[in-house]
Amino acid sequence: MLLFLSGAAILKTTAHAKVSFVPSISSVGWSSAVNVNHPSSAQQNINLVNGGGIYHPVSKSSSLHAKNKKRDGGQPTSKKGKVQVLLLKSVPNIGQAGDVVCVSSAVFQNQLHLSNKARLITTEEVEQLQRREQEQEKTLVDDAVKTKTILEETMLDSSGGEIDADGDICGVALTMKRRAGPSGSLFGGVNPKMVIDLLREKFPEGSWDGRHVKLKEMRDSSGKDVKKMDIKHSGNYTLTVALHNSVDVTFILSVVPDV
Ligand SMILES: *[C@@H]1O[C@H](CO)[C@@H](O)[C@H](O)[C@H]1NC(C)=O
Repeated sequence: MLLFLSGAAILKTTAHAKVSFVPSISSVGWSSAVNVNHPSSAQQNINLVNGGGIYHPVSKSSSLHAKNKKRDGGQPTSKKGKVQVLLLKSVPNIGQAGDVVCVSSAVFQNQLHLSNKARLITTEEVEQLQRREQEQEKTLVDDAVKTKTILEETMLDSSGGEIDADGDICGVALTMKRRAGPSGSLFGGVNPKMVIDLLREKFPEGSWDGRHVKLKEMRDSSGKDVKKMDIKHSGNYTLTVALHNSVDVTFILSVVPDV
């Protein structure tokens, strides 16, 4: 979230500066706005930015920043022969698909336009897309927080659920029954995908978009991370799931032998 906001602020500066930048490869990223593999669809899709993207300053954007400041915030001047474009494809030495960059109009015409690697984009359009992306980002965060609340309520309702000394909510949010041998060894392990699938099934009202939801940690009761090895034994496991890149939830998964 912070990354997004700071990046967006930089983009804003860029946008206001219009085409005054000197370096031809100053850019701000628009990482997910465009499908890299389907550049021809990018033009249509740009207005349907999926919200998962974040702006990220790349290459010379900080020097660009400084340069614009030196113009003491006056009216942006249009540098002769430069145009602001949205890259529809990644172009070496210019930028990634989705970046808004300034290039000379000769470069645009000869290298980018004919091969459909970029299109002109106005500052207003950049700002509009940026606003839309911010709104979508906010919705994603709100949904993730809602999902976290649902899980926390379940934890508090579970037996042994509590708020610990640090104010964190601890408890079982998920119980999984698995066939097991007499010592508790499972027939078949439990992997991160199974956990996310079960969460989706048990909490259908939550937001479980696979692009945003990731199992970050899965620790057994001794604290050992078993995410990569899968769960192979019944018992309690502490899981941390990212519901969004700025919203994590930690809960207990109780794997009980199915007898
Ligand atoms: C798992 O945790 C819950 C809640 O703390 C507790 O009631 C239960 O006994 C634990 N189960 C095991 C196998 O440790």
